[in-house]
Amino acid sequence: VDKGGLVLVGPRDWTSGFFPGSLWRIAEHTGDAQWRKAAADLTARVEPAKTYGGTHDLGFILYCSYGQAYRLTADPAYREVLLTGARTLCTRFNPKVGMIRSWDGRPWSYPVIIDNMMNLELLMFAHAQTREASFKEIAVRHANKTIENHFRPDGSSFHVVDFDPNTGAVLKRQTHQGFSDSSAWARGQSWGLYGFTMMYRFTQDPAYLAQARKVADFLIGHPRLPEDKIPYWDFDAPDMPREPRDASAGAVMCSALFELAGQVEAESASRYLAVARQQIRSLASPAYRAPLDGNGHFLLMHSVGHKGRGVEVDAPLVYADYYFLEAMARCKAGLGAG
Ligand code: GLY
Repeated sequence: VDKGGLVLVGPRDWTSGFFPGSLWRIAEHTGDAQWRKAAADLTARVEPAKTYGGTHDLGFILYCSYGQAYRLTADPAYREVLLTGARTLCTRFNPKVGMIRSWDGRPWSYPVIIDNMMNLELLMFAHAQTREASFKEIAVRHANKTIENHFRPDGSSFHVVDFDPNTGAVLKRQTHQGFSDSSAWARGQSWGLYGFTMMYRFTQDPAYLAQARKVADFLIGHPRLPEDKIPYWDFDAPDMPREPRDASAGAVMCSALFELAGQVEAESASRYLAVARQQIRSLASPAYRAPLDGNGHFLLMHSVGHKGRGVEVDAPLVYADYYFLEAMARCKAGLGAG
């Protein structure tokens, strides 16, 4: 929702998979055939994205829709769409850089954003299904180079790193949606936390667990993480406490912390769970959770899309709802991935 109106998108938009995915979560929770039918109908609308090589967001688009559909139905037709999408995503990998390119066009040469970690889940799924080595190789090379170049010593991450496509050298480190190049844009931190926790789930590589923990410790120990544990849109935004919160960053962080808590020893698990549970309580409270029939029918209020452009500021966002539903499913299931 922006400026009070509902914004609808086509299958190529990075957010197109979240509503079908939310419907699958609700169908799973309720066991109601009506939700399942709606989920299947909306999922089918995203299918054209599977051959669209113009975006790195195929993981968001297809894994959140078709990935949920396949998890819940085991229908091989869903699996085929996921594998086609994974092959398309691989076309954006340049071996000289060792990463999947995020955006096409200027002003960057070969931009890679921290958000892109999320798209690796589609590749790791494809590898688990087919055992084709290239899916995993691409995901692992991307993740390893992200550790090398996107993170600062304190565990926070840059948003955009621009590379030389011929040598793979770093050209610039910048922000696009954050407050400044050196700031910690909240949703970007959450994407990194979720992405490395997810990579550890698939690979059991301790470097990914260590990176996820570093991000988690940066976030939960941050002096400007509020009491309710829902971050401001950027940890370095200048006008706190008047800056808007970002419920989407809180929901992604919450879901990731539930999974991470299941991967670590008891003392760390209880620290991560305390924050994740507070986040669920906050998001489910009237401070963030909209009354029925209000808020354009979205579940959560108070997210931020792109503050610098004045787009979707203090607005409901479909991905906030998706990760809130996922976080609740993970919470209900115990500690693991749900
Ligand atoms: N991946 C785009 C965003 O987080 O806004």
